[in-house]
Formats: sequence, C-alpha cells, structure tokens
Amino acid sequence: MIPLFKVAMSDKAAALVGDVLDSGYIGQGAKVDAFESALAERLDNPRVLTVNSATSGLHLALHLVATEAGRDGEVLATALTCTATNWPILANGMRIRWVDTDPATLNMDLDDLARKITPSTRAIVLVHWGGYPVDLDRLRRVLDQAERVHGVRPRVVEDCADAWGATYRGVALGGHGNIAVYSFQAVKHLTSGDGGLIVLPDDELLARARLLRWYGIDRDGGAARFKNDIPEYGFKFNMNDINAAIGLANLEIVDDLLARHRENAAFYDTELSDVDGLELTERAGDRDPSFWYYSVKVDGRDAFARRLAEARIATSEVHHRNDTYTATRGSQALLPGLDAVAERQIALPVGWWVSDEDRAHIAKTVKAGW
Ligand SMILES: Cc1ncc(COP(=O)(O)O)c(C=O)c1O
Repeated sequence: MIPLFKVAMSDKAAALVGDVLDSGYIGQGAKVDAFESALAERLDNPRVLTVNSATSGLHLALHLVATEAGRDGEVLATALTCTATNWPILANGMRIRWVDTDPATLNMDLDDLARKITPSTRAIVLVHWGGYPVDLDRLRRVLDQAERVHGVRPRVVEDCADAWGATYRGVALGGHGNIAVYSFQAVKHLTSGDGGLIVLPDDELLARARLLRWYGIDRDGGAARFKNDIPEYGFKFNMNDINAAIGLANLEIVDDLLARHRENAAFYDTELSDVDGLELTERAGDRDPSFWYYSVKVDGRDAFARRLAEARIATSEVHHRNDTYTATRGSQALLPGLDAVAERQIALPVGWWVSDEDRAHIAKTVKAGW
C-alpha cells in the first residue's frame, strides 16, 4: 500500500536523543532552547514558543484570547478541520459559531466570515487546509471592515498544524499578525515525536504565553522561582529535551522532504487537471502550500476510495466535518459550501515517500476511472 502519511526520521535523531538520555537531564532545557532558536530562524520570527502538541498550543491560544476578550460571545470557526482545531474553543468555555467552507480551497469562506462578524465575536479560529494558506490579506481587510463597522477587531488563531514551510506572499505563516500554531506530531512534515509551536504576534502576548505554558511560573526566576508571586495560573504544555532533540535532527531534513511534497503535487496538478468527476483545489500564485496531503474533490467518493485501495493506494477524507458531532450540538448552521464538498473531498498520497513510479501509478489509476 502506498501510505497517505509516513514518519520521516533523520538518521541523526537516535544519537541526539541518546545524548539527552545519557545527560541526566531530559526535561525542558538546552535542547528545547536550541530547537526554539532554530525554529525562530526558519520562520524568520523571534516570537515562538515550543509546546508539547499543537492541541496544547491551540488550547493556550484560546486561553489567551478568552482571558483577554471574555468567554461570553462566540468564536467564529471552520467545521472542516481536525477536532483539535475546535475542541480548545469548547474546552475554554467559549461558544462556536460555524463559518462556511470555501469549496475552491476547503479553507474558511471569508465572505461568510465577513457576514458573521458581530460585536459578540470574540475570536476567529481557522485552519490552513492540508497546508494551503488562507488568503491572509483578504482576512486582514475583513477585520479592518469589522473594526470600522462594529468597533471590534477579534484575534485570529491560525491552525498551521499541516502547514510547516508554507508561505503567504513570501512570508511564513505566523508572520501575519495573528496567533499561529504548528504541529510536530508523528506524521507531520517536521516531527519531534509529538510537539508543537505557538507563534505570537507581539511581545506582550509572547511573555504571557511563556509563563502560562509552565504553570504561570517564570522558569528564569532562579531558586526563588516558586516563592515569587504567580500572577495567574498556567498549564504544563512545555516541550522536553527528548522531543526537542528529535525535532532538531529532523529540522535538517525537512526542506528536502517538503520539496518532494511540492514536486509530487505539481505532477498531479498537471496529470489530474482534466479527469471526469474529479476537481482540483485552488492554486493561487501568491502562496506556497506545504501539501501535507493532496486534496481533490470527486464524485462517488466511496467508489473512488475502493478503486484506489484495490490498486494499493491509501486515501482518506483526513478530517470529518466537526458540526455533526454531539460535542458541538448547539452550534448548528446552514453551511452550503461545506455541504457541497464534505462528501466529495478526499486526500491522495503526495509526500516524500511517493516515488516517481508511485505517483505515475496513482495518476494512471485515477485517470482510468472508478
Ligand atoms: C489541522 C490539525 N490541527 C491540529 C492537529 C493536532 O496536532 P497535535 O497532534 O500536534 O496536537 C492536527 C493533527 O493532525 C491537525 O491536522
């Protein structure tokens, strides 16, 4: 079977982890600092903090927003994503109001967002679907307009879990004035085993997030750090040196991996551009996606998946719409854009492990019909 996801592990990871295990210190220490510095350099953004998962990073992001803006009102969110994008909204005692999906990109529909922002909007949470960047300048204009009309400018939380390496207008995600969260989970482009990164838009939020990721305590406070006052409670969301060592090793290989994801995607863009019953997703010239998977929309998705499975090709919808779960009851909305794609969207393998022969086999199988 050609898998949809695969763990990429540098052959230097075991030795680096071994050093940490032998060092007698495996908590948050020098390796976390080194990983954080290296990530800041890659993103060209100094305001980064590692965490132990993107889910933790998103929880921390929503906590920052909730304590700033209040838990009343609502959070505008996209239903087509991982539950990890939306559960932190609920876990922080906030209410979800669904925004529709743009069938062209499978990202949040920014026209629907513009319609749904009101003075009760406390935050906007969105995902870069499969690593395809949301139109962030258009989003900024929507926020400008909301500020003019309603006098509110809600914070935006960008879920960049699938988008390591993606850029919008030449700038890495996290550099566009919002809170952004990356994932280094097992099968992501860049893995640290488990882990994540929260990127903050200003120094004040960065300082607060740094405290809150570890109980609200200033780790740099020396021996007196537990005696010093703790202004507000925090969490245990920090990364440790074992995960950071894995991440550091994999940071050396991730650019090559990402390049192969993009090469394979470009191949499909050409090969699958004219297949009956199959539609590609949007490609805009101002963004460079990371293609964690390759999303297409097909008629007869079950038959398509069965046909590809027979040809030993794994596929998946990856994420199921979140608005149908009992956990989100009370947040129902009419979402015609999502309805149009929810049963049609499906992901093909596109990653570094997909060889020239594999991708030719995948394209040929799809073109033969289902
Ligand atoms: C879109 C999205 N958000 C969040 C997550 C959660 O990431 P983590 O496992 O690092 O918590 C994932 C994981 O697959 C994801 O795909």
